[in-house]
Amino acid sequence: MDFLNQLKTDTKIVEDWLFELSPKGDGYHSIIFESANYSISNGGKRIRPILAMEVCKLFGGDLENVKHFACALEFIHTYSLIHDDLPCMDNDDLRRGKPTNHKVYGDAIAVLAGDGLLTYAFETVLKSPCHKRAEAGLCLAKLSGFDGMVGGQVIDIKGATDKEMLIDLHKRKTGALICAGAYLGALSADAAQKDIDNVTQFAENLGLAFQIKDDLLDVLGDEKTLGKPVGSDMDKQTFVDFYGIDKATEKLNEISEKAKDIISCYGDKSKFLTELTDYLINRNY
Ligand code: IPE
Ligand code: IPE
Ligand code: MG
Ligand code: MG
Ligand code: MG
Repeated sequence: MDFLNQLKTDTKIVEDWLFELSPKGDGYHSIIFESANYSISNGGKRIRPILAMEVCKLFGGDLENVKHFACALEFIHTYSLIHDDLPCMDNDDLRRGKPTNHKVYGDAIAVLAGDGLLTYAFETVLKSPCHKRAEAGLCLAKLSGFDGMVGGQVIDIKGATDKEMLIDLHKRKTGALICAGAYLGALSADAAQKDIDNVTQFAENLGLAFQIKDDLLDVLGDEKTLGKPVGSDMDKQTFVDFYGIDKATEKLNEISEKAKDIISCYGDKSKFLTELTDYLINRNY
C-alpha cells in the first residue's frame, strides 16, 4: 500500500478505537461527556496514536496491545489543546475548523473536560490487556506532566529568552507527547531496550521538527487550511522569532533528516515512518 493510503487506513483504525474507548455517560453532569467528545471527535491528524501503532507494527507487536495506549495518548493531547486554547492561555476561538471547546461550552466546562480527559487517559491505560500497562502509565505521566508537556507549556507562557531555552520548550511542549507515541508503541510490542531508545530518539527529533513546522505555519499558513488562527503565537518567542523563516526552515530540514537517519537501520520496515516524517514537515495544516 502506498503511504497516503496507509495513512488513511491508520487514521480510520484510530478513529474507530477512539469512538469505542471515548468517555461515555449521562446523569446531571452529562454535559462533560458532550464537551469532551466534541473535541475528541473533531478530527485532527491523529499523529500521536498513529505513531504508536506504526512503531508497534515495526517491532512485530499485536495491535490490541497498543490500542488503549494510543487512545490514552490522544485523550491527553486533546486535553492539552482544550486548555491551550483557553483565554488564560492562547485565547484562540478556532480549532480544527470549529469553535474551540470553551467557545461552545464555556471556560469552566472546558477546564473540567480537560481535567476529565487527563484522568480518563490513565483509566484507559489501566484497562489495557497489555502486560506493560504499568510502565505505559508511568511513561505517559512523566511525558505529559511537570517535566514534560506541562513544563513546556509553562516555558511557553513565561517566554523563552534564548535558543537553548526555546529548544527545551519545544522538546517538552510538543516533543514529549510525540516521544510518548513512539515509546508506547515500542513498549506494547515488547521491543528490546536498544530499539526503545532508538525510536524514542527518532521521535524526539520528529517532535522538534513538528513544532518548528507549527511555528512556521503560524506565520506562513492560512487559517482555512490550518483550521486554527494564524498569528496566534505572534507575541511569543517562537522558532521563527529566533531564527527567521529561512533559517527555521533550514533547521526543520536538518532535524528531520537526523530523525530519518536514526530509523534507517530498520531498512524497509521503517519506510512508513520515514515517509511520515517527510509528510509532516511538508504539511500545510
Ligand atoms: C497541535 O498539534 C499542537 C501542537 C503540539 C503543535 P497537532 O498539529 O497534532 O493537532 P491536531 O491534533 O492535528 O489538531
Ligand atoms: C501547543 O502549542 C502545544 C500543546 C497544546 C501542548 P501551540 O499553542 O503552538 O499549538 P497550536 O498552534 O495552538 O495548535
Ligand atoms: Mg500554546
Ligand atoms: Mg495554541
Ligand atoms: Mg502553534
